[in-house]
Amino acid sequence: MHLVIENFLNSEELAEIASALPGADWRDGRVTAGYQSRQKKNNAQLEEGGPLARRLGEIIMARLERTPGFVSAALPLKMVPPLFNRYGEGETYGDHIDGAIRAIPGTPLRVRNDLSATVFLADPASYDGGELVLHGDGGEAKFKLPAGSMLLYEAGCLHRVEPVTRGVRYASFFWVQSMVRDNVCRQLLFDLDNSIQRLAHERIDHPEVTPLTQHYHQLLRLWADT
Ligand code: NI
Repeated sequence: MHLVIENFLNSEELAEIASALPGADWRDGRVTAGYQSRQKKNNAQLEEGGPLARRLGEIIMARLERTPGFVSAALPLKMVPPLFNRYGEGETYGDHIDGAIRAIPGTPLRVRNDLSATVFLADPASYDGGELVLHGDGGEAKFKLPAGSMLLYEAGCLHRVEPVTRGVRYASFFWVQSMVRDNVCRQLLFDLDNSIQRLAHERIDHPEVTPLTQHYHQLLRLWADT
């Protein structure tokens, strides 16, 4: 399962984030990679937990809470605060998986990574390469989204970032622990919620809306941990 959320950030939020990135203090991106993926990772990141990452991350977190599609698809319980990366010419991150558990620095908290998210922050015309490639049952899927759009995908999925051959690719990325651990159950809930929303949109007093909403919450009660 993957989901594209177009125009996740509005133009003011995107402008505030994008204007802070070019002059930022970029560090070696290998600091947040495990031993195996460190060999394949060549990019730069903002300091995790540093003042700029925190300030820009808060813009993204505030927007997440106001994005119904994200809430419905991810059913978030906790998340790793957003990180920010930069790929210049020749930089890449080869095929890898994201680790299952992540500690939040400076806290005793741990997050189980059920879902990975990437928010694209550079105009796709401003760089070549840099596609995010997901391996799935149907082969590879490549994503190079408009600035401000987000890709949400299962964290267990093998993926890579193609080498950037011109310009600079900026993105934010983070992980989400869902209240519903099982990807299939979470997808069923998302599909059911979408069907209910469509029905309610067609006709607000549709007689099936209430019973279907009851089924949704019964399943959520069965599958969710909080
Ligand atoms: Ni990754």
